[in-house]
Amino acid sequence: MTPTVSPDALRAAAEAALRHAYAPYSQFRVGAALQAGNGMIYAGCNVENSSYPAGTCAERNALGAAITAGCQDFVAMVIVSEADTPTPPCGMCRQALVEFAPNLSVTSYGAVGASATWTLAELLPAPFTGQSLRHA
Ligand code: THU
Repeated sequence: MTPTVSPDALRAAAEAALRHAYAPYSQFRVGAALQAGNGMIYAGCNVENSSYPAGTCAERNALGAAITAGCQDFVAMVIVSEADTPTPPCGMCRQALVEFAPNLSVTSYGAVGASATWTLAELLPAPFTGQSLRHA
């Protein structure tokens, strides 16, 4: 059974991560928190770079923190950003997440509190996966 983690706890972890975001170029801070199947929460923020493509998103940094801690099983992600409306994860983050959690629930909160929830399957309906690499 999946241990209960309150949505508020996941949101609070994402908000705490957002406060550590390094976003001097876009001024767009993002925090993300992943709830693992064992009840643990792993958070990340966006980390930009003067060489823009070297920057990373909050979602992939949360995923990296979880994988680094030995966790590869996830049930939900909460994203918080400074946008007025809730932002979904970018395409690269969707691809990174589907590797581990094709059934992930993704909830995003905008700066004024509105939220939106999707499944990762809705956000990335025809994913490229390890199966896609198979050939005769
Ligand atoms: N960003 C995220 O962290 N997550 C997303 O899903 C979209 C964009 C970051 C990347 C960059 O630091 C800033 O937001 C503007 O794109």
